[in-house]
Amino acid sequence: MKPSLVFVGFMGAGKSTALAAARAEGLSTTEIDELMEESFGSTIPQAFENHGEEGFRARESEVVGSLLERADDGGAIALGGGSVLSPRIRAAMARHTVVWLQVDAAEAWRRIAHSDRPLASDAETVGTLLATRLPLYEQLADAVVPMGDRSMVRRALPMLRKLHELPAGTKLLWASAPGGEYPVLVGRGLIDCGWWPLASRRFVVSDRSVAPLYRERLVPVAGGAEIEAGESAKTLANTEKVLRALTGEGMTREDHVVALGGGVVGDLAGLVAHLYQRGVPVVQVPTTLVSQVDSAYGGKVGVDLPEGKNYAGAFQQPAAVIADTEVLETLPPEELAAGFVEVLKTGLLAGGSLWERVRAIEKIVPTELDDVVFACARYKCAIVAADELDLGLRNVLNLGHTVGHAIESATGYTAYRHGEAVGLGLLAALRLSEAEALRAEVKEILARHDLPTRLEVPIEVADILDSLGRDKKRTAAGVGFVLLREPGEPEIGQLVDPDKVESAIRELML
Ligand SMILES: NC(=O)c1ccc[n+]([C@@H]2O[C@H](COP(=O)([O-])OP(=O)(O)OC[C@H]3O[C@@H](n4cnc5c(N)ncnc54)[C@H](O)[C@@H]3O)[C@@H](O)[C@H]2O)c1
Repeated sequence: MKPSLVFVGFMGAGKSTALAAARAEGLSTTEIDELMEESFGSTIPQAFENHGEEGFRARESEVVGSLLERADDGGAIALGGGSVLSPRIRAAMARHTVVWLQVDAAEAWRRIAHSDRPLASDAETVGTLLATRLPLYEQLADAVVPMGDRSMVRRALPMLRKLHELPAGTKLLWASAPGGEYPVLVGRGLIDCGWWPLASRRFVVSDRSVAPLYRERLVPVAGGAEIEAGESAKTLANTEKVLRALTGEGMTREDHVVALGGGVVGDLAGLVAHLYQRGVPVVQVPTTLVSQVDSAYGGKVGVDLPEGKNYAGAFQQPAAVIADTEVLETLPPEELAAGFVEVLKTGLLAGGSLWERVRAIEKIVPTELDDVVFACARYKCAIVAADELDLGLRNVLNLGHTVGHAIESATGYTAYRHGEAVGLGLLAALRLSEAEALRAEVKEILARHDLPTRLEVPIEVADILDSLGRDKKRTAAGVGFVLLREPGEPEIGQLVDPDKVESAIRELML
């Protein structure tokens, strides 16, 4: 049996376009709306009128359920927007590759406003209806192709067709930004499952802790280089060393870099790929929670200067991100906890169901994180798609990072892990946001996961303020903070009274 590609999504998401793309690839295709029209002998609006929504849904469940239960030729099927409401249809989808074509309410309404769709009378109704269906799409999707130009699905199709050959449970996000589109895979056992996104030779850049654990599983490896583990290795000097090591090994522009490691390796190897003979592709294989939920996506690559964190860098979107969550099992618990801060940050930014999931986590168990990792990747990639070059919206990702980076820089990158410093930065940001209850809850969550809630190293406030003054995001007007009064409602570029900033930092020392 060959599973079908089952396209789901709201009205206007582009399911017909997806089917056309599948047809062009030689797949057999079925449009459920057409089957329903045949079954009723009328148009869909007429069927709704004659049988009511209940009658329509009952027939739909029968027609679509039995089709999905039988389908075995690896074709493509586009479901109606509401098909996912039927338990029978949902159960039958499990044996296929479910592709969610994502669209937001405003875009859906823009696309369907002039149609005769029975449930789409006005923008508000469309918004409410989408909100009720979102959790179902989210829960059912094996792959997510976000809103964008509708031809994106055509480019994603080869990867979508491959998905069923990857380890069971693997999820695919088709990430896109003006600088490039790429597959993001999140699952267990991905790094040595036999699939690789590029055919060219692999040069693996890693660190001395991760390489002995996982480098061999990336065979065939043509060469590569290793740096020391930890933030202090994220330097221009090491960038040069790695570039020269790759030159010595004969890497050419036809080859590609594999960044195997946490955010430090990902950032440095990404910069190396960007610079090597003016640019070769990089496949990110993130091995920490920080990198799997955040740093591997979005193309910000770079290294630190003694004067400031991430001061030398570039933008280069990866060719693919392979987030194998199994590798999190070897991550030391403190690193896992530090990574959780980026999960917490993303939950706070996204609000809604992600925030509910994150705040409910009692214990961070690597084997239970797949869904959260995928949700965080989706959030980050959506922000990057809207503002790749960090000229506005992408700034939200800096929540907690302004003070966090200043703490890291003022303590010489040795006292705190990145995530730990960001945790403290979150507390400062929530103080500046005057979000008292939320700050108390975040503090409780940090403590629950054994993360610092106080600045305990001997350091002067003046040193942190000094580092803050060198923040990359500083403009002539001052440092713009990301504030958050409610989960899901970040505000970027907020200038704050310097006295308040100082007292928010002082409070961390109490
Ligand atoms: N580019 C971006 O958009 C972005 C976003 C967020 C953070 N970052 C950067 O990410 C960096 C922090 O990343 P990090 O927290 O992953 O730190 P890291 O890369 O230093 O990794 C933490 C430690 O865990 C070890 N390790 C990694 N994977 C392991 C595994 N599977 N098993 C055992 N040990 C493992 C590493 O050797 C290291 O000692 C910072 O430099 C930060 O600036 C970048």
